[in-house]
Amino acid sequence: MNKTKQNPFKPGAGYAPPLLIGRDDDIDDFVEGLDNGPGAPSRLMRVTGARGIGKTVLLSKFAEVASARGWEVIRESASEGLCARLVAQLQPPARGRHDFTLNPSVNVAGLIGGSLGAYHYESPQQMPLTLAGAMRERIGRLEKRDAGLLIEIDEAQAVDKNDMIAIANAAQAMNVENRNYALVFAGLPSMSSKWLNNDATTFMRRAEPHALRDVPLSAVAVSFGDTFEGTGMILAGDPLQAATEATFGYPFMIQLVGYYVWSQARRNHPDDPEVTIEDAQAGIGKALTRLGETVHGPELDGLSSVDRTYLLAMAQDDGPSSTSVIAERLGKGVNYAGNYRARLLEAQVIENKGYGKVDFAIPYLREYLREHAAFYRMSAESGE
Ligand SMILES: Nc1ncnc2c1ncn2[C@@H]1O[C@H](COP(=O)(O)OP(=O)(O)OP(=O)(O)O)[C@@H](O)[C@H]1O
Ligand SMILES: [Mg+2]
Repeated sequence: MNKTKQNPFKPGAGYAPPLLIGRDDDIDDFVEGLDNGPGAPSRLMRVTGARGIGKTVLLSKFAEVASARGWEVIRESASEGLCARLVAQLQPPARGRHDFTLNPSVNVAGLIGGSLGAYHYESPQQMPLTLAGAMRERIGRLEKRDAGLLIEIDEAQAVDKNDMIAIANAAQAMNVENRNYALVFAGLPSMSSKWLNNDATTFMRRAEPHALRDVPLSAVAVSFGDTFEGTGMILAGDPLQAATEATFGYPFMIQLVGYYVWSQARRNHPDDPEVTIEDAQAGIGKALTRLGETVHGPELDGLSSVDRTYLLAMAQDDGPSSTSVIAERLGKGVNYAGNYRARLLEAQVIENKGYGKVDFAIPYLREYLREHAAFYRMSAESGE
């Protein structure tokens, strides 16, 4: 077998992994939606899950599937001016448009009012009409050749309310006209509560929910074996088991462990294809450090100091924590602690384990907190 030089694993946000594990059902649902025509439930989807669970790469997979059927795909991520960018993308490239790039007025896409190529609007109130018009036009062209349009919106938890209302109204207009299109939102779990509780966006409630979870370890083991084999290496037996278990089925960790175990083996013995247990252990260690830097640190930084104190109290246990014991450790009433628990549950940092127990939902967060307890306690005391 040929040995390749390049590490096949992709531990970076949005990079397609060598094998997309455990998402067959979601992909099948999406395909079924395309096949069954306008009105099929999975033509409107919301994909949710924690950071690093694989939402963005699933959107890429959907885009690939749709493109293979001759569909066109528009991808956007939530940030200011989302709808204006959608309208701009919906327009077919004007012939000779590049001739005008030096004229700034041509590319102005203001938020308050402005001109987007053929579409003019005076105020945000007009955006739904503008967006619907642009969608109708583009989808109409595609329908003539029996194709459709897929629109994907990533980081949907951060979409501006007016943008969401415009998208909802435009989508509603397309539904009424039985248009050949599909719309997929992806975002953190908070997007569900944010948009589902909003009257103006009840249409989100009809979106088919796809809550992404960690993938089964059996599938991780098979994919590790195959991916190493694909580059002329052998990962089997105890090293394979150690590497697999270290991932906890968390997709980002799968890529980290794969990446560092692969590179350790290549570095330690370039001419021997078989991964040893030492390679596996060293690789797992590096993967853990990287996980801390890229996931645990930023996740904890995004929480309030009381949230972090709650987590520190949990980290004293080796397994699930009793919520009343946590309240005691915090020196607070059960209700007070309950508020913080609810927030951490919604952020999917912790999960319910039944009978008044909670546990960490992010792999190795307990260990990370223990290692960095002094630092987080200090920042709690200084009120940061
Ligand atoms: N099903 C999967 N199987 C294997 N690896 C995966 C899978 N899904 C994602 N990954 C890998 O996990 C990492 C994170 O994926 P991705 O960026 O899609 O996550 P995300 O949910 O969009 O995260 P964020 O909320 O930070 O945007 C990437 O390195 C990607 O290659
Ligand atoms: Mg993403």
